[in-house]
Amino acid sequence: MRKAKKSEEQGLISQEVKDSELDPNAMIQTFDLTKIYNITEGIEIRALNGVSIDIKKGEFVSVMGPSGSGKTTLLNMIGALDNPTSGAVYINRTNIAHMDDTQRTNLRLKQIGFIFQFYNLVPVLSAYENVELPMVFAGRPKEEIERNVTKFLNLVGIIEKKDHLPSELSSGEQQRVAIARALCNEPSILIADEPTGELDTKMGMEIVKLLRELNLELNQTILMVTHDPMVGTLAERILKMRDGKIIATETTKN
Ligand SMILES: Nc1ncnc2c1ncn2[C@@H]1O[C@H](COP(=O)(O)OP(=O)(O)OP(=O)(O)O)[C@@H](O)[C@H]1O
Ligand SMILES: [Mg+2]
Repeated sequence: MRKAKKSEEQGLISQEVKDSELDPNAMIQTFDLTKIYNITEGIEIRALNGVSIDIKKGEFVSVMGPSGSGKTTLLNMIGALDNPTSGAVYINRTNIAHMDDTQRTNLRLKQIGFIFQFYNLVPVLSAYENVELPMVFAGRPKEEIERNVTKFLNLVGIIEKKDHLPSELSSGEQQRVAIARALCNEPSILIADEPTGELDTKMGMEIVKLLRELNLELNQTILMVTHDPMVGTLAERILKMRDGKIIATETTKN
């Protein structure tokens, strides 16, 4: 990596990466990513401490590690929800620190789908309305929205509950709605932070098997944090984190 360069408009430090370091098959690449939180004067937390990963297009990777090891921080940097202290994130060979606000918003809205542990469904909207929301924000045509919402609600097996409010759905059903919502814009990347954290093991396995099927069918790149070893092994590769670092990479039989 070359010397760090200050990006005027965003006030971030962005590392320049040589073209030869970019993997043509990568969907997500990070280079020596660090994130330091300054809690109080003189006290620093290194949430990420030099993370370099390379995730290929269409790959399904899980991230595992103890609480506080930096998993969510890593996903937030990759999803452009937060800025690293140093290092670089490349999505599809583009350095996200070089994107302006519009490009970053587009990246989050159109290229990346997010699934969070607590679903984050809008309580006053029906399952259908929750799923259509990102497409409405993205300004997709009405017919396309209708077609996709129906398609993905069907795919996650929840179409018959489309008019239910989140409070009228079980946890597993709510998570299915959240998955349909993350997928409906047909993002090339799916980022899931403990998508099964609030579900029992059986339902969790079912949801992640569904993600794996979709990953194979739609060739989406999936990065998923999980605490559950059974769930983790459904991915093709497991990145193990500790103290802000990747300490091991394991390839599964998938
Ligand atoms: N906004 C913040 N301000 C200060 N410290 C933070 C902030 N966010 C995270 N941290 C710290 O950074 C470290 C990594 O946190 P992170 O949330 O990434 O962990 P995690 O691996 O996702 O943990 P968990 O499994 O509990 O979700 C922790 O020590 C945490 O306390
Ligand atoms: Mg976390």
